[in-house]
Amino acid sequence: MKFFIDTANLDQIREAGELGVLDGVTTNPSLMAKEGITGKNNILKHYVDICNIVDGDVSAEVIGTTFDQMVREGEELADLHDQIVVKVPMIRDGVKALRYFTEKGIRTNCTLVFSPGQALLAAKAGATYVSPFIGRLDDVSSDGLNLISEIREIYDNYDFETEILAASIRHTMHIIECAKLGADVMTGPLSSIEGLLKHPLTDIGLEKFLADYRKGNP
Ligand code: G3P
Repeated sequence: MKFFIDTANLDQIREAGELGVLDGVTTNPSLMAKEGITGKNNILKHYVDICNIVDGDVSAEVIGTTFDQMVREGEELADLHDQIVVKVPMIRDGVKALRYFTEKGIRTNCTLVFSPGQALLAAKAGATYVSPFIGRLDDVSSDGLNLISEIREIYDNYDFETEILAASIRHTMHIIECAKLGADVMTGPLSSIEGLLKHPLTDIGLEKFLADYRKGNP
């Protein structure tokens, strides 16, 4: 399972990278705004900064909603760096843009996916990644994890190569459950990744090992 971090915060990306388990980064317009990154040139520069920190895929989202706008923006984003994956929303023109980028050899991440049908369309259009938003489904009393399971079944039935990128991960158990269901990738906040580390018995056990060592080696 690949681990992506879902942030545009450079310190957090560095921290996750230093842990040695980071495979990439996903961003979106809200995450860029949260870091105060505004204006086209600053945004493009920030994507390059992220690429220079992490050795892996970096999703950069288009803002346009028509085919022409998405193609223009996506080509500009893809030209920025080899690691850029163009993030395209699951809308009618987005599906057309996914197909266009696939034919051009530009890698894509289809975002804002909330149903198995949308995921099937993304795979048919050749998306590199599909991003089902599990946390946002949970927020509206739908079962986000069940969507991962449905997409896994559909993709396995037809050997689709599109990777399932479980997005809108809110906590550590989301990661565990997505791993059990066979999601190819998860993207979440640093806290969700760090949560995997924690177990009270590890802390208690280490404390005892060190105390016993100190007794024999005063
Ligand atoms: O990057 C897309 C997705 O991960 C957003 O997550 O927490 O805003 O629902 P969230």
